[in-house]
Amino acid sequence: MTTAATAPGKAILFGEHAVVYGHPAIAVPLPGVAARAEVSTLTPCEDSRIVAQDLGRVYAGQGGAPDDEGRFLQAALAIVLREQGLAEQDVALAISVRSDIPIARGLGSGAAVAAALMRAVSTHLGSPVSEERLSTLVFQTEQLLHGRPSGIDNTTVVLGRPVWFVPGTAPEPLAVGCPLSLIVGDTGVPSRTRDSVSSVRRRLEADPQDTAGILSAIGAIAAGARQALAAGRLDKVGQLMDDNHDHLKRLGVSSPELDRLVCAARGAGALGAKLSGGGMGGCMIALTRAHATAQVAQVAQALVKAGAAGVYLASVGEKGTG
Ligand code: MEV
Repeated sequence: MTTAATAPGKAILFGEHAVVYGHPAIAVPLPGVAARAEVSTLTPCEDSRIVAQDLGRVYAGQGGAPDDEGRFLQAALAIVLREQGLAEQDVALAISVRSDIPIARGLGSGAAVAAALMRAVSTHLGSPVSEERLSTLVFQTEQLLHGRPSGIDNTTVVLGRPVWFVPGTAPEPLAVGCPLSLIVGDTGVPSRTRDSVSSVRRRLEADPQDTAGILSAIGAIAAGARQALAAGRLDKVGQLMDDNHDHLKRLGVSSPELDRLVCAARGAGALGAKLSGGGMGGCMIALTRAHATAQVAQVAQALVKAGAAGVYLASVGEKGTG
């Protein structure tokens, strides 16, 4: 018997980086890109193995992997087994993982892979972990990757719905008064969240007053965006995205590639655009009204023309998308 589970990617709509320092943020799942894990039981004399399909690599289930990706997968397995009261040598599992979420682009690839793996393993072993607990376990793997994650990535990919997130409090569902479309543009430049988070920390140490001011302003933008989203005022939401991008630029986490895509999206009629996730590469997002098919196509084409390595679409506020 094989047990399968999935988890979506995510995009941060407002508040990245500031959320690391306790300010609110808004994130949405990207169901169009997802991680998937499949688990089956081997004979007891075999050792567990984790097959990373996209990388074409096979790792032993028990640690000692030669690369970061393998160590990450092994850690996720160890954490979920520990949750079940098991050690790695107590089970013999064949785990296969694949994901179409681009890696190191701020779309929550690591969190989604860990969530899918843990969901599949715990379900296969007969005691699926609750969403709340799964989010905590994925957070533990995020700590290995990022050092100081806010918790927004694990929360969004596990819940699979738009969230209003304030560190240290329970995530709240996001009210969306008018459905919207998001167009995600990938610069194709890999960027590790750990690096961009460290760079903001260094800026905060070097210039505490200015940096804290920017972070607070981003938090206030997220709060304003929550109200504008609930009221269905998408023009206002778009303007707040532009403001948020300007603040992220001042923080030093944008890049010429991101600015080029943001500019192209605005020029093609997006209501607003900003980088999304850690920045310094990775992805940006642009906003249009839902069902504005011509506009979505124009923005997507403009992004490709401006050099986007990939373009993904997501709906927010439609039935079934939160
Ligand atoms: C990463 O998706 C978002 C950051 O704010 C880091 C975090 O919240 O953990 C840059």
